[in-house]
Amino acid sequence: MSMPRVLITRRVPPPAVELLERAGLVADVIDQDDPPSREMLLERARGVSGLIAMLSERVDVDLLDAAGPSLRIVANFAVGYDNIDLEACGQRGIRAANTPGVLTDATADLAWALILAVARRVVEGDRLVRNGQWTGWAPMQFLGVQVGGATLGIVGAGRIGTAVGLRSAGFGMKVLYVDQRSNPELEQRVGARRVELDELIAAADVISLHVPLTDENRHLIGARQFAAMKPHAILINTARGPVIDEAALVEALRDHRIAGAGLDVYEDEPRLAPGLSELPNVVVLPHLGSAATATRQKMSQMTSENVIAVLGGREPPNPVN
Ligand code: DGY
Repeated sequence: MSMPRVLITRRVPPPAVELLERAGLVADVIDQDDPPSREMLLERARGVSGLIAMLSERVDVDLLDAAGPSLRIVANFAVGYDNIDLEACGQRGIRAANTPGVLTDATADLAWALILAVARRVVEGDRLVRNGQWTGWAPMQFLGVQVGGATLGIVGAGRIGTAVGLRSAGFGMKVLYVDQRSNPELEQRVGARRVELDELIAAADVISLHVPLTDENRHLIGARQFAAMKPHAILINTARGPVIDEAALVEALRDHRIAGAGLDVYEDEPRLAPGLSELPNVVVLPHLGSAATATRQKMSQMTSENVIAVLGGREPPNPVN
């Protein structure tokens, strides 16, 4: 009898391959860093028992059908799992799992990197110096938004939103948050106050998004919200691109309705909305939220543990269905 095969849709850091092999499974890695073509994905998925998928892979009916009845687990190499059709998985008895917790700090750190970079115009300044255009210190040069003492608005106070809020303690910020549930940790440790989205939008100097992508959250931030923001507000998105109406964001940034934006995620990754990358008041990163070596290694371990558990007849440690 041949050993069950697990498709890993991209090169990943250790120890996923080693753990799968040690568990008697065949780790079949699509040996590239770029996303595989859809055709390649459908072809390579044929007959697999497990699938370790990246957030950029659409795990839909076609892919599940291409894999066939042998497929028992889709382990996402991400905490977000909006790329997986959970209903289709459920109908086929396929388990789905993710990597919660291990990327909380890395993503919160990156949100803060964006907050400071946008508020203090770090990338614009770097560009000026590199281009040899800096003529010396000037009192009016690159005036930015003061972060210390400002009001931070957290939209979505789950694990990552909470970690971003807690990091604000060193900056003496007032913290507002929006969530379905109250968050005693944020309230007790940084004096955060739960408010409605409209209040947060109008009051915050820094707005950071940490909601999952659901039908309800698609375009949660659009033209109406930009019109209600403070003119010096900055918007940070390390969650999922479609939470923001990106075309409306381009307009808001172009018209200086808000001061700036820091983005790690996009509506149609890796494509950017027309005009976005030409604007000086936006910092654009290539979806780096979890891209710290130790974090990605833990994600690698968790995805393989989810697969090994299900193929061994056990409950996955991090199920999402
Ligand atoms: C995730 O895991 O969902 C993050 O977007 C990775 O950066």
